[in-house]
This record gives sequence, C-alpha cells and structure tokens, in this order.
Amino acid sequence: MRKNRRNRLRLVGALAAVLVAVTAPSAQGLCGEGHNEPPTLAELAQRHGRYFGSATDNPELVDEPYKAILDSEFDQITPGNGMKWYATEPQQGVFDFSAGDEIVDLARANRQKVRGHTLVWHSQLPNWLTSREWTAPELRAVLKKHIQTEVRHYRGKVFAWDVVNEAFNEDGTYRETVFYKTLGPGYIADALRWAHQADPRVKLYLNDYNIESIGPKSDAYFKLAQELRAEGVPLHGIGLQAHLALQYGYPTTLEDNLRRFSRLGLDTALTEVDIRMYVPADEQKLATQAQWYMDLTEACLAVRRCVGITIWDYTDKYSWIPAFFDGEGAALPWDEQLQPKPAYYAIREALK
Ligand code: G3I
Repeated sequence: MRKNRRNRLRLVGALAAVLVAVTAPSAQGLCGEGHNEPPTLAELAQRHGRYFGSATDNPELVDEPYKAILDSEFDQITPGNGMKWYATEPQQGVFDFSAGDEIVDLARANRQKVRGHTLVWHSQLPNWLTSREWTAPELRAVLKKHIQTEVRHYRGKVFAWDVVNEAFNEDGTYRETVFYKTLGPGYIADALRWAHQADPRVKLYLNDYNIESIGPKSDAYFKLAQELRAEGVPLHGIGLQAHLALQYGYPTTLEDNLRRFSRLGLDTALTEVDIRMYVPADEQKLATQAQWYMDLTEACLAVRRCVGITIWDYTDKYSWIPAFFDGEGAALPWDEQLQPKPAYYAIREALK
C-alpha cells in the first residue's frame, strides 16, 4: 500500500515535470539542438544492467517517423512475426530468413540486441505442417531440422530464443498441440537440447502469457523448470509475456514470481508487455495504465536476474490488440500519432 502511494506521488511528479517540459519552448529548443537530450529508455535501463526493447514487424519499417523512435529509444528488438515457423520454413525444407534478417540488420545498424521469437509454437505454423498427420519419428525429424536450421542461421545474431512458446493451458496442464500430442511432453526438453547443440551460447527460454502471477500456470513452469534443470537440460530463462488488461487487475505477485525463478538459477524477462483497456481511453484509465507500467518495471528492477523488458511494439498504431480483442486497445506507451502517453513517463520514472 505504502509503496503504491509512493509510486503514485512519483508518477504525479513525473507528469508535472512533463507538463513543464512540454510547455517550455526553450527547453524543447535545447533538446532539438542536441544539448540536454533526455536519456532514452534504453540508456536508463542500461544503468541498471537491463535492456528496454520493443517488438517490431517488417511492414512497419517503411514508416520513417516510427522507425526513428524504434531506432533511438530501445536497445533490444524482437521480430513480431518474422522468425516464426510460417515465415521461416514456408515449404518443408525450404527456408526463408529474409524477414528475420531484415530485423537483425536493423538491430545491428542501431546496436540493438535481438530476441529470437519463436521456434516451437502451435500458432502461425505453415500449412504443410498443419494439413497432414505425422508419425512421431517424422515430426521429431521435422522439428529438429527446423530448430537447428533456424538457430544455426541466427547464431551470434540473437542473444536469446523463445524456444517453446505457450506450452501450457491456464490450469497448468500441457496444451494439446500437434507437438505434445504426437511426441509427448518430452518435446520441450528435446527442443531445448537441439537448440543448444546449434548455438551453445544463446540463452534458451520458455515463454508464455498469464504467468505473471503465481498460480496454476506459472506453477507448471516452475515445476517443469525445476525438472529440466535437475536433468541438466539447457534451459536458461523464463519469458513472461505480460499481456495485461486493466479489467483483470494488476498481477501483484509478479515480483515474488520473478524471484522464485531467479532462485532456480534462471533469468527472467518481460517479453511482450502491453496493458490494454476498453476504448476510448480516458485520463483515469491512462493513469492506471501508467501506474502498472511503472510497477512492472520496478518489479523487474527489483529482481537481479530479470534481465530486461520488451513491449509488444511501442505504439498503438501497430498494436495487435484491436484486431484480437473487440473494443479494446490503447495498450502501449505511445499513442497512434507516436506521441508518448503517461505510461511512457511512468516507465522513465521507474528507471530513474
Ligand atoms: O501475413 C498476412 C497478410 O498476408 C494478410 O494480408 C493479413 C490480413 O489479415 O494477415 C497477415 O497475417 C497476420 C500476421 O500477424 C502478420 O501480420 C495475421 O492475420 C495476424 O493474425 C498475425 O498476428 C500476429 C499474432 O501474433 C498471431 O497470433 C501478431 O502480428 C503478433 O504480434 C502476435 O504475437 C504474439 C506472439 O507471437 C506470441 N504471444 C502473443 C502475441 C500476441 O498474439
């Protein structure tokens, strides 16, 4: 409670500072001339030994004003779609890394790190894979080849991989994907081992949504992580996507949850953060959203092995939310006109 009040006061202070900055032309002029440039989110995060990143997607890269902020404000990017199976192996055995490569090249030019996303996922699979039945030996071979070809291609170019994405149901049982149904739960350990063979240096993650709080789904990851570590399977981190929604409440056990994974010797990362609301947004909702962005940033900073935060694109202009959740949106720290929202200043405040 006390911490929340303190946070709220800090947020009010930060917003007041912003108002002063916005209404003071001389201060703006100075920034424009390159003096007194405020530090970027990336620079602020680096002071804590963390990164601050954004997802991006290839079609957006022709939008120059969008790209200018992507290039300058973040030190990590994740391809929103370009490294997924449908994009990288559109025909069996025929690989196409052009979309992912474009993101990697952009990151190189801007000295940004790249999270590889994602090798094994039930969604956005190519038709050739979903349109027929596979025996276990066939699917094992297909899976191994896909993982190893892609990991080898990006060796030294991505620092982490979401090896398996969204493997569990809400109640902590295994999601009945084609991989689980055909190969059994061991496909996860196999995928990690195959990825590790292909790039022994890259950090290997399991990644999922609705695992920010302690509960059945995050418990399933905790138990699996314990087992995998005990068996010497190369697992290095857990990615908490953190697709939050104002109507479901803030995950107050986030920090404790991050800490228990740290204690297992694992890194954690907030990998796909957005905080949606019913639109239209109003001042109150945006203030609550800002508070949540601040709280989750502070939670990550409080846990040594929480290595960084990635928002799932940075502007409402390119958010996935409106297309997937009817009547919801406004989930990101920049609005559709690429203007920073209260959430942006709240993140800055948390990183100071
Ligand atoms: O590529 C086609 C294009 O040819 C077609 O014209 C267009 C028409 O709708 O669709 C395009 O495909 C879209 C694709 O993104 C690429 O833009 C799909 O419809 C759309 O469903 C797909 O959405 C992606 C979604 O994953 C799929 O589940 C989002 O962009 C992407 O941000 C989102 O990301 C996921 C993470 O990978 C995993 N965690 C959840 C997160 C949000 O769903």
